[in-house]
Amino acid sequence: MLTAEEQSLIQKVWEKTASHRDEIGGESLYRLFTSYPSTKTYFPHFDLSCGSEQIRSHGKKVVAALSTAVKSLDNLSQALSELSSLHAYNLRVDPELGPGTGNRSSDVEPHSALQLLSQCIQVVLALHLGKEYTPEVHAAFDKFLSAVAAVLSEKYR
Ligand code: HEM
Repeated sequence: MLTAEEQSLIQKVWEKTASHRDEIGGESLYRLFTSYPSTKTYFPHFDLSCGSEQIRSHGKKVVAALSTAVKSLDNLSQALSELSSLHAYNLRVDPELGPGTGNRSSDVEPHSALQLLSQCIQVVLALHLGKEYTPEVHAAFDKFLSAVAAVLSEKYR
């Protein structure tokens, strides 16, 4: 549960990313695929090269979903309900065991793909925000992205 201070910090900082949002998603995804190559198994149909149009456009969708979440911090479950169903039932993004049960590489265990993406988003936010990505902002975003990941995996079982 995010505190009122954390909520307002997240909303304030997210506002500051407005002019970089088109890049943040794609950069986070490219970082995910490069740092944790086994996550690429979820995207066999994508061109995963640096700057690919598919990564950029998917990145925009991910960031738009995060914008929705930032507007609904009190009610993430409801705001992300459809997305949660999609990731759990259709995409089956594994919440615990790393990408693709039975097809995972040991180097990413025990982190789930959701945790890894959250981590990559945080690195990219820090790169864009520089000094403004203070330890307090870092802590609040960590909590926020963990809450988003929890919602996206809550229908999995
Ligand atoms: C699709 C958001 C994490 C794999 C999507 C879509 C959104 C989204 C908005 C598009 C839905 C649509 O077209 O209706 C998010 C958010 C995440 C997240 C906010 C966490 C912060 C992940 C992770 C993986 C993943 C960790 C796996 C590594 C996919 C795949 C698709 C998808 C394979 C379908 C892509 C396509 O074929 O177009 N996600 N996602 N997602 N997501 Fe996620």
